[in-house]
Amino acid sequence: MSTPPLASGPEGPGALRPLLDTVLDALRTGSTARGGPLPAGGPEDVARRLRDAAGDILPRHGTDDALRTLVHALAEGSADPADPLCAAHLHCPPLAVATAADLAASVLNPSLDSWDQAPAASELETLVTTTLAAEIYGTTDGTRTATALVTTGGTESNQLAVLLAREAHSAVQLVHGANAHHSLPRAAWLLGLPDPVVVPAPAGTMDPVALDEALTALRGPRGSLLVAATAGTTDAGLIDPLPDLADVCATHGARLHIDAAYGGGLLFSDRHRPALDGLDRAHTVTLDLHKLGWQPIAAGLLAVRDPHDLTALRHQADYLNATDDTEAGLPDLLDRSLRTTRRPDILKIAVTLKTLGRAGLGALVDHVCARATDLADLIASRPGLELHAPPTLSTVLFRPAGATDEAVAAVRRTLLHDGRAVLGRARLDDRLWLKATLLNPHTRPDDLAALLKLVEGHTPR
Ligand SMILES: Cc1ncc(COP(=O)(O)O)c(C=O)c1O
Repeated sequence: MSTPPLASGPEGPGALRPLLDTVLDALRTGSTARGGPLPAGGPEDVARRLRDAAGDILPRHGTDDALRTLVHALAEGSADPADPLCAAHLHCPPLAVATAADLAASVLNPSLDSWDQAPAASELETLVTTTLAAEIYGTTDGTRTATALVTTGGTESNQLAVLLAREAHSAVQLVHGANAHHSLPRAAWLLGLPDPVVVPAPAGTMDPVALDEALTALRGPRGSLLVAATAGTTDAGLIDPLPDLADVCATHGARLHIDAAYGGGLLFSDRHRPALDGLDRAHTVTLDLHKLGWQPIAAGLLAVRDPHDLTALRHQADYLNATDDTEAGLPDLLDRSLRTTRRPDILKIAVTLKTLGRAGLGALVDHVCARATDLADLIASRPGLELHAPPTLSTVLFRPAGATDEAVAAVRRTLLHDGRAVLGRARLDDRLWLKATLLNPHTRPDDLAALLKLVEGHTPR
């Protein structure tokens, strides 16, 4: 076999073009073979088909059809978030333009751990992260410019937020709502902090009175308490009462982190942005554009109000940021992440922001939120279904009326097994609910009706 061509360099585009044709073809044939939102047959059938297609994955001599075969197999065996009946998770269908930009990121392969590997990408990252941070915190106050770190998603952002709090105050006690994402208590565990104090969230959002009581009981030294609130809960898409929680934190001198991994997308929408009032009062904010931002994974961010907090991440490795290089003007990139080699996820984000603009992104947000309201209305109009509550974001919880929790779980699994629909599950008010998370801006009202019909038709009686 001759030396395989490279993706970059003068020959790169010529070598890539026919391969891209193969990829696009295989994506099409694979999803046609699947014929629905999820491969049918359940885990064993899917695993067998994948293994049959893959064959010997490390043969002595390679084969020319690996690209076509494996892309087809993966597409055939994928959960497709672009299918309107695939609505379980905060798993968005990526925009074509963002995905195209991601191809360029792979071709150019800048690595954001040193300027000499990413001269323009590092500047683009600075530009986009300060722009996004300004969406939350406004523009510079003259002494400091809020910024953001690029992460692999909400989990890494939440971990970094807890780490920055620990470094700012040496010891920190995390306090979060019962509705918080599991990555927050996990971050406390990872960082060797005491077990978090969990504040009740009786109606799905953190109760400010209960937070006040919890902080009073803790009476930590000023600054040693870190409160994590949520703007867009994983289970129900609810937003904590941010201004009230920020007031309570201010009274107790507690640091505030807001996990807006889901709800952060509302920043782009004139209509929905007011629901995020109070976000700017947080020291740190998790954003995640591979949720309500239509990016291919990964596209997480942690916005940081005071850039001085980032001194905690300062680190020296002579081969990447030698002091004399830095003094001579080469930008030091190591305090932007705990990772070393880092892909330029910022490119697809930048391309999306500039292509759609705030209005274009806001329209997508408005659209999926409106579809969620449509779905809730449809559910409410059907006597065989029970709606949990009108949606705040784009998540709708419902269940077949009068069904047991076992029946609710069974209908979800049957639809998954048959590859007919992908719905999530959530336990709220001590009952199990089906969860539809609408992130597909192409979903039509007819699709929603079809989804409900499937649920009604597959509920065990
Ligand atoms: C509120 C919230 N925070 C954090 C996360 C974690 O994000 P990721 O899966 O991108 O790490 C999620 C994931 O669903 C989430 O819903």
